[in-house]
Amino acid sequence: MKLGKRLSQISDLVNNDYAHIWDCCCDHGLLGASLLDKDLNAKVHFVDIVPHLINELGEKLTQFYAHKKAQWQTYCQDVATLPLSQYSGKHLVIIAGVGGDLCSAFVQNIMRQNPNLSIDFILCPVHHLYTLRQTLQSLELTLKNELLVNEKKRSYELIHVSTNKINSGSVHAVGERIWRYKDKQEYEIARHYLNKTISHYQRINQGSDDVSDIISAYKSVQLKSVE
Ligand SMILES: C[S@@+](CC[C@H](N)C(=O)[O-])C[C@H]1O[C@@H](n2cnc3c(N)ncnc32)[C@H](O)[C@@H]1O
Repeated sequence: MKLGKRLSQISDLVNNDYAHIWDCCCDHGLLGASLLDKDLNAKVHFVDIVPHLINELGEKLTQFYAHKKAQWQTYCQDVATLPLSQYSGKHLVIIAGVGGDLCSAFVQNIMRQNPNLSIDFILCPVHHLYTLRQTLQSLELTLKNELLVNEKKRSYELIHVSTNKINSGSVHAVGERIWRYKDKQEYEIARHYLNKTISHYQRINQGSDDVSDIISAYKSVQLKSVE
């Protein structure tokens, strides 16, 4: 099945640097299957908490990827308890399509349980990006890349971070590279996403939570042309 733009962009970020790639919250396993198609050296681990999804996925992988049997494995498991330390080499943990709060909790748990492993994360949650970015900062993960991806008129932040301190970039509270644009279309997408995010926090501010700091941080964002 053809990948949508969001999962496609994630797949494009994955190179041959990894021994183990974890497609977390994999659902029907579309992303992980596309990574198997890329003929990387890595083993692809498919993880979801719902038994029937993992059973069906196991049957499909057995049918279509029997020739790569050594390169994939399925797990019906909570992502918070990934068995990373059972495998040596560099890990890439991909978490997409769940809320930013849950995504933050997963990253915190994985880091707590595996303090000495070399791990990259590609994260593409829905909502709560500010919370997620705070978590990534507190864990001192370094920034490899960040993108704004638009799919079906909705924008998603895609954040690639690492435990490796060699990367010079640090995670910014509201993002930096995602606000750079190279043409009118990218400018409009970024502007729309920024306005939508500010409106979201302004609505929260009208209730009992004071999020005026967050609103100020987003209001200080300046869209910049990369040229
Ligand atoms: C909307 S799908 C995301 C699918 C795909 N990653 C994507 O981005 O399109 C969310 C998936 O997360 C799974 N999920 C939710 N909580 C989980 C947990 N704690 N551990 C593992 N999987 C979980 C659900 O079963 C569901 O299949």
